[in-house]
Amino acid sequence: MSKVYHLGLDEGKIEEARFAFLPGDPDRVKFIAQNFDSNSKEIAYKREYRSYLGKMKGKSVLVTSTGIGGPSTSIAVEELAQLGVKIFIRIGTTGAIQKNIKLADVIIVTGSVRLDGASTHYAPVEYPAVADYEVLDALVEAAKALGLRHHIGITASCDTFYPGQERKDSYSGYIIRRFQGSMKEWQRLNVLNYEMESSTLLTMANAMRLKAGCVMGVIVNRTESEEINPKVVEKAEINAVSVAIEAMKTLILQK
Ligand code: URA
Repeated sequence: MSKVYHLGLDEGKIEEARFAFLPGDPDRVKFIAQNFDSNSKEIAYKREYRSYLGKMKGKSVLVTSTGIGGPSTSIAVEELAQLGVKIFIRIGTTGAIQKNIKLADVIIVTGSVRLDGASTHYAPVEYPAVADYEVLDALVEAAKALGLRHHIGITASCDTFYPGQERKDSYSGYIIRRFQGSMKEWQRLNVLNYEMESSTLLTMANAMRLKAGCVMGVIVNRTESEEINPKVVEKAEINAVSVAIEAMKTLILQK
């Protein structure tokens, strides 16, 4: 496919980029692209999908925002894949559910509990949502090299921020029976955190023989609070972006 509809991109614009960072927030795209080796530039901005292109280690690299959640993420991954992108690093924020995880720590995902719907359109629920080994290894080594507190493990990937993550601070405060007690269960099953995109990305990537991994900054610990502090968000984002940038350099040099 030489041109894709939702992202407003075509093969010419992406200059043979095979690597992409996937933040959720369009406002985070420029900040990530500022870490590239050369002047990066905005090449498209449609709806939640904002794309910057630049060079890292001599290769074209994209940053494309996905918006929040599985459906919009699936469109971004699908259309980038159609244009030839092969390696994806998601950079996100997350709510930790284990007591030992501190604010602004980094979580690197080995696999996702598939609580989303979008991934089931790409592979049956029995299919695992797991990170690519090389991308995972590059992320872990980057976090170690940067000396950042990090945790490696399983995330619960939800379609909703409120009831699916058993938040009581919603409009009605009601949580349907399926999710009542679910946070306790995920804690008991050694799940580290909640977020909303990794299961879609990791399922799609494996099903389509692409490579993907996810790194997230912790903006809240749900064992303590549901409130999110903007200062913590900033620090968490900086940490997650630093890990992703270092990991991408490694992956580019390996190819
Ligand atoms: N993203 C989520 O999905 N949940 C959180 O608690 C924080 C970020």
